[in-house]
Amino acid sequence: MQPDQPSAPPVALHHAGTYRREVQASLPRIHENVWDWEHLPALHGTSFAACELLGQDAEGWRVRLTSQPGNPDHAQVLKLAMRADGLGYTVTTEAGPGTPSEIRVVLTPRAEHETGVLVEYHVPEADPQRLAMIGAGFVSIYEQLWDEDEAMMRAREAALAPRPRAERPARLDLGSEAEVRARLPLLFEFGPARFRLVELDGALIAHAATCPHWLAPLDDVPVVAGCITCPWHRYRFDVATGRSVDGKGLRLAPPPTIRLEAGRIIACA
Ligand code: FES
Ligand SMILES: [Fe+2]
Repeated sequence: MQPDQPSAPPVALHHAGTYRREVQASLPRIHENVWDWEHLPALHGTSFAACELLGQDAEGWRVRLTSQPGNPDHAQVLKLAMRADGLGYTVTTEAGPGTPSEIRVVLTPRAEHETGVLVEYHVPEADPQRLAMIGAGFVSIYEQLWDEDEAMMRAREAALAPRPRAERPARLDLGSEAEVRARLPLLFEFGPARFRLVELDGALIAHAATCPHWLAPLDDVPVVAGCITCPWHRYRFDVATGRSVDGKGLRLAPPPTIRLEAGRIIACA
């Protein structure tokens, strides 16, 4: 990957702050998360407004990342370089606010689903007071980012875990129409998969409650203009058809048919 501009003369960087935590996720989940630039403006939507991939190779990626509130004039060009042993990576700011700065991360596997994370922030600022202020801001942002990442990695780890095979039943009684409508949106399992029953223009519609991209739970996403948006990467789907509405080409798993029989709501294979 080549930077957009000729590299500037080296600037001395100083250690502004350190963030440490134990993350309840395996090293492979963390690698997946670090490579996954696409989740930045979705999962971390309160921090980032947009992210455009500029290049990718075996070592890492380069992106143009726009922080909230979304002024493209303040976008940063960031370069991720993974360590060859997989036990860490560096994110360098190549352009935009904070250039040049480095985030250096060391990953230490502790157990099957636990990894130690050590993050250091290095900036071109020598004044101790300014450094302390920058470091405190950095730690607070990173705490939130890792909270969000850890929740996603744990949910993904759970979604990928092997589970006993469950046959799809021929029919499932969800309850009386009045009860069901009072409990909407209603999550239910139908054989091996989870679905959610919602009301759309008065009709009861079931849709898959798991995103076909990286298996994010869609339990709590609002239905807006007949569509849902996945919280992890913002892929969008039409609730009634399950079709992708953003050109990604994915489709929600087919739901059971919902019928009203003698006042009861029945899910049918
Ligand atoms: S898990 Fe990636 S868009 Fe849903
Ligand atoms: Fe993240």
